[in-house]
Amino acid sequence: MNCRCNEELEYFVKEAKKVTKKGKVASYIPALAEASGDDLSAAVYYGDGTCLYAGDVKKVFTLQSISKVLSLALVLMDHGPNKVFQYVGKEPTGDPFNSIIKLETDNPGKPLNPMINAGALVVTSMIKGTSSADKIEYLLNFVRTLANDQSISICQRVSESEFETSMINRSMCYYMKEYEIFRGEVEEVIDIYTKQCAIQMNSLDLAKIGSVFALNGKHPETGKQIIPTDIARICKTFMVTCGMYNASGEFAIKIGIPAKSGVSGGIMGLSPNQFGIGIFGPALNEKGNSIAGIRLLELLSANYNLSIF
Ligand code: DON
Repeated sequence: MNCRCNEELEYFVKEAKKVTKKGKVASYIPALAEASGDDLSAAVYYGDGTCLYAGDVKKVFTLQSISKVLSLALVLMDHGPNKVFQYVGKEPTGDPFNSIIKLETDNPGKPLNPMINAGALVVTSMIKGTSSADKIEYLLNFVRTLANDQSISICQRVSESEFETSMINRSMCYYMKEYEIFRGEVEEVIDIYTKQCAIQMNSLDLAKIGSVFALNGKHPETGKQIIPTDIARICKTFMVTCGMYNASGEFAIKIGIPAKSGVSGGIMGLSPNQFGIGIFGPALNEKGNSIAGIRLLELLSANYNLSIF
């Protein structure tokens, strides 16, 4: 990988770091509470295989909700959009990521989109394999192919910590099971889902995965078409409409790029046909998005005119 530290990016990271004090590290998954709130690192991975970074870019973090885009891509590839969208919708909710309310009030039992927990749990239940170990291995191998890095692994401590505390996610699975939208075994899917959320990597790997989506599914290093163009397009559209949860509208206005956040403080973003961005800044704002990560993207978008709108 042809990567170098970049002064301009370092300047923006330093600027964005100023807001970390206003954020809070996630604590509802006990193992995440150990992250240090003033961290911020970023990498930009270009279509020609070069990359720039700033901050402690070797720091490893778990994907959390960013994994929802990757499991969606895999499940869409295996089952096709028609089948997947029988079980999960395409509309934003305006609610927090773990909200259960619309499962009851809107089209009962069918989650509105695959970026909220309810929708992601349905997607995870559709991952192919004969056992839970088989299914998570299959997803992990797909993520390794996307990052072109066989060393990507699962953080056992974080997955176990979340498995113990996932009562609302379990409740949503049971609720959807009543309507036969969710067809898996609840404990098995929670096991796979908590492991997919605990897939760990650094911002360079994350930027590289972002660049695969930016290049419409083609890998910048291997030149292989990893994800069909139409499926990469569906994933990017969800990143725009639902990627930052109930802050997606404001994010689209202020920054205007496809992006997906996770409660670990990761953000995967991209500039279509140009580059992927990987950010790690564990202090979160009140909507569960990296506070300094958002600030950094605001600065980058304004300075380099990144908005797609
Ligand atoms: O389901 C959960 O609670 C987490 N493992 C993932 C949530 C998440 O990252 C939401 N992001 N902002």
